[in-house]
Amino acid sequence: MLTTITRLRVNQIRHNSTVSLSILNYNKNEITLKIGENPITFKNVFLRDSCKSSDSIDESTSQKLFTTAEGATNLSIIEQPQIEDGGEEPTLKVQWDNDGKKVNSTYPLSFLLKHSTAKNNRVGKFFDNDRIIWDKHELESNLSSINHNYKDFLNNEETFFKALHNLNRYGLCFINNIPIPELTEMNDSNTNQWPVANIARKFGYIKPTFYGSLFDVKNLKKQAKNIAYTNTFLPLHMDLLYYESPPGLQMLHAIQNSTLGGENIFCDSFLAAEYVRQKDPKAYEALTKIPITYHYDNNNEYYYYKRPLVIEDNSITNDKFPKIHAINYSPPFQGPFEIGTVKETNTTEYEMFDDFIRGFKLFESAINDPQNQYELKLPEGTCVIFENRRTLHSRNEFNDSNGGDRWLMGTYVDGDSFRSKLRIGYRNFG
Ligand SMILES: [Fe+2]
Repeated sequence: MLTTITRLRVNQIRHNSTVSLSILNYNKNEITLKIGENPITFKNVFLRDSCKSSDSIDESTSQKLFTTAEGATNLSIIEQPQIEDGGEEPTLKVQWDNDGKKVNSTYPLSFLLKHSTAKNNRVGKFFDNDRIIWDKHELESNLSSINHNYKDFLNNEETFFKALHNLNRYGLCFINNIPIPELTEMNDSNTNQWPVANIARKFGYIKPTFYGSLFDVKNLKKQAKNIAYTNTFLPLHMDLLYYESPPGLQMLHAIQNSTLGGENIFCDSFLAAEYVRQKDPKAYEALTKIPITYHYDNNNEYYYYKRPLVIEDNSITNDKFPKIHAINYSPPFQGPFEIGTVKETNTTEYEMFDDFIRGFKLFESAINDPQNQYELKLPEGTCVIFENRRTLHSRNEFNDSNGGDRWLMGTYVDGDSFRSKLRIGYRNFG
């Protein structure tokens, strides 16, 4: 019904001088407006709840001064709503009686448009239309757009936005030409002086973990806390899925990388999940339901969380992009399954577990297909940034029999910090 509205672009939402607004009808539950050529009905409770009058929103903090339940209590319209057309844009005016209190509300056309469709609601918050699922060919065809210069990334806000934009697009980007650090050893007193910390702080702040604010990945690390600190092949995985809130971004800066092997491999897990959905919908469904346990029980730490392989997001509006919020895949840190494994407990889940295994196999066949992987040996002076909830990473076996050294320094940033900077970047440059 709302096809015209759905097609409205961001600039049209901001500048509505050519779009007309009128009232078709109203009653105690809803108001029907005509926006352009489209009838749109809003619930009165939604409109009251969104009111920005001075007694509804604190002017200095922008915080709401009433609850949704209070706004919905004994709510009625006192007089016929009006359209005021004299200002920058047409505005709906409503006078409410809310449990005996009179409230005057105004709703500019831009507000009404923004909240008229699910797609418009996401404008300025999520940038679905720019996102692309990728395989090896797609990524290798776009390498120039995901490589950025370190000094420009730090000092030029437009370059920084381009990096954010491409990180949102592919879940992966590279920062190059990082000068060789003058320091020789990372410790608690110098963490802020390392290039990877400068890159992370550009997003806001570092997310510390039990590995520290920054972590070193060096060859010859004895009694490793984590398989990543050894030289054996590291399979595709995501980090810290045993946290309630795993980091959204991971950064790895190659300070030295002259050993044999040790190439990094990246893969778009969303592509693999979409492959399962198309190939075997029932198996895909099971991947969204059966939780996988993740744990880290080592070195006097015991972290634990459980989450399904696929977390969907049905509000994503890009038809060419999977409706997925995050993937959870990290075999080295998997614990025993807890759901669907014992016949007596729940027959439905027990049967669904077979679908889950079928889906899991399909998922792995997709991520392990070299045609879906991007492999490179990180050049010294390059830092990779990737979305830890989307882009899987792995590393080939390496050895230092050639006398080479491998020293990568890493850190994490919350996905919230990334998306906050992304939104501000789109506001300024998008
Ligand atoms: Fe990792």
